Amino acid sequence: MKDYKRILVTAALPYANGPVHVGHLAGCYLPADIYVRWERARKKDIKFIGGSDEHGVPITIRAMKEGITPQDVVDKYHAIIKDSFEKLGISFDVYSRTSSKVHHETSADFFKKLYDDGMFEEKETEQYYDEEKQTFLADRYITGTCPVCSNPNAYGDQCEKCGTSLSPEQLIHPRSTLSNNPPVKRKTKHWYFPLNEFEPFLQQWILEEHKEWKNNVYGQCKSWLSSGLQPRAMTRDSHWGVQVPLPDAEGKVLYVWFDAPIGYISATKELLPDTWQNYWQQEDTKLVHFIGKDNIVFHCIIFPSMLKAHGKYVLPDNVPANEFLNLEGEKVSTSRNWAVWAHEYLEDFPGCEDVLRYYLTTIAPETKDSDFTWKGFQDANNSELVSIFGNFINRTWVLMHKLCGGKVPPLHLEAMEDDDRNIFNEIKATKHKMEQLLEQYKFRDALFEVIDLARKGNQYMQKKEPWIKAKVLGDDLLAGKGGLATPEQVAARQSIDITMHVCLQLSANLAIMINPFLPGTARKMMHMMKVVEKMLDWENAGKEKLLSTGYNLRAPELLFRKIEDAEIEQQIEKLKAGKPVAAATPAPVEEKVIAPVKPEIVFDDFAKIDLRVGTIVAAEKVEKADKLLKLQVDLGFETRTIVSGIALHFTPEEIVGKQVTVVVNLAPRKMRGIESQGMILMAEDASGKLHFVNPEDKINAGAGVS
Ligand code: MF3
Ligand code: ZN
Repeated sequence: MKDYKRILVTAALPYANGPVHVGHLAGCYLPADIYVRWERARKKDIKFIGGSDEHGVPITIRAMKEGITPQDVVDKYHAIIKDSFEKLGISFDVYSRTSSKVHHETSADFFKKLYDDGMFEEKETEQYYDEEKQTFLADRYITGTCPVCSNPNAYGDQCEKCGTSLSPEQLIHPRSTLSNNPPVKRKTKHWYFPLNEFEPFLQQWILEEHKEWKNNVYGQCKSWLSSGLQPRAMTRDSHWGVQVPLPDAEGKVLYVWFDAPIGYISATKELLPDTWQNYWQQEDTKLVHFIGKDNIVFHCIIFPSMLKAHGKYVLPDNVPANEFLNLEGEKVSTSRNWAVWAHEYLEDFPGCEDVLRYYLTTIAPETKDSDFTWKGFQDANNSELVSIFGNFINRTWVLMHKLCGGKVPPLHLEAMEDDDRNIFNEIKATKHKMEQLLEQYKFRDALFEVIDLARKGNQYMQKKEPWIKAKVLGDDLLAGKGGLATPEQVAARQSIDITMHVCLQLSANLAIMINPFLPGTARKMMHMMKVVEKMLDWENAGKEKLLSTGYNLRAPELLFRKIEDAEIEQQIEKLKAGKPVAAATPAPVEEKVIAPVKPEIVFDDFAKIDLRVGTIVAAEKVEKADKLLKLQVDLGFETRTIVSGIALHFTPEEIVGKQVTVVVNLAPRKMRGIESQGMILMAEDASGKLHFVNPEDKINAGAGVS
């Protein structure tokens, strides 16, 4: 491993066209914050950079719909987002914004440098133009009738009703959303960045030199690189964004994905006007980008190529991207308001910031998509935070006050037993395991180690039963009135002292270990222990003597409260009511990545697949499998059992009678003990909803598809 002197951590700049939700937090901001807090506790020179992404089409569209300026939109959401981050303890060293002056200058200079180096190719293409408003129209600005489902309000890039992705040319009767007039075609000039020329560099740098990147990240890069890169326009026709810094570029701005990542640099400049270059331009900086999976291509391929083209900048050491977090079994959808918004959570559960941090970390989609459920949230709180962690700390404090007069009791080395010493070993082992996990960005597992250690503390205390030993002493002796007369009394006193001493040192260690994950909880524990922040330094983890004998501790504080069924039911109802937030803005599809096309195949590859039309004649749920339906599908020549993962999208009743397309020569596969004899084709729209792929009109079952 390289010897780094300083660390620069970035977290994807959220679009300031809406608040942040739990998916954003779990995917990117929490892992980044945990990592940063841990490295800070290790006394590393580290800076945590964030800010709002305030350019791009979705923001201008929202402004237009609400009849306000784009600046109004970003001012509003920047403030909401920033506030949510602060309250949740996402500890940015700077939270900037891309509408700032320093960012406009920095990104324009960056573009100019590449331009002066002859990096861009200027190309003219034809695009739709609104003559009345005198502006080119991004695909999203054009609406018309969907050629597939006749929805009269389809967008130029997609029909939200049937989910078909479109290009503006396919719309019937296209109209500009700005003026409602039919648009005309007009020539426009843009500056293209030759991504293709960076392929050899990327092949070497990612595929050879960064094999340690997470599988999901490495795999996506590999697939992009194997399908070949194309030059990409780095400018757009718009008035909202960073002006292209060239004389003949009126009405042209930098493409939002060109300027946004440069926002990391601008924000660093804002934080460190004099020393920012140390963090960006010195080889011994470790740069780490935390992002969600839809940002991988931009952070692993496009931005590094830009940095490489510029020449002066360091490249990321790692890009630990997470997959997506679903919500109650469905994809989060901001346009349908199927989301748990951070600012609403903070209002609904005041004082429970750490509970959300905890639950989201335990379900973080580190290797695959995962699911937020309100029930799961409640369970995590009630049966882990309250029953394990909170319970251990609370019992320790209560007993220490009851049995030891609120002071750290002595250890009596000579009377210690194996299970006492064992706790100290467990503490050290936990520290060691956590370090290995955190180095690899495995935050969930690291957190489980902490909870596991608290669980061991509970078991230990349960085994030692200091409250039983206390009976041997009686109230007076416990309170220190009178001397210990019998050997039993001496042994009981020593046993109580040892147990409570060990539990207290364990508590202090737990505070250090939980600190990166649940900083508010660690803070409360510090207060109970009357210690200063310095105790939370990571180098103290694993130590046996964090609290000295005789030291007076404060009374216990409640770390976590129980979350009641009624609160959870309320949240579920609220979610189901799903009223759209403020005049639902279309999801920002334009700025997102469409999955790359798979490598080419020949006709013979395709011809091997036997596709038939079938009719679903029966359907039922599969026990203990939320997502599966067991179907009977009539294929003309026979009826087959097919298990399909569509139960979250359809009820058995509604699909009986439907026609479907079936792969009939797929090798049978057992799912939950049922042999599935084929596969049904489904199309997934941008919101994650599934649709059957079937013939337009009902036809005979068994008909071939080719
Ligand atoms: N705004 C983008 C999104 O939410 C992320 C931008 S990350 C940056 O998907 F690198 F471009 F800043
Ligand atoms: Zn449609």
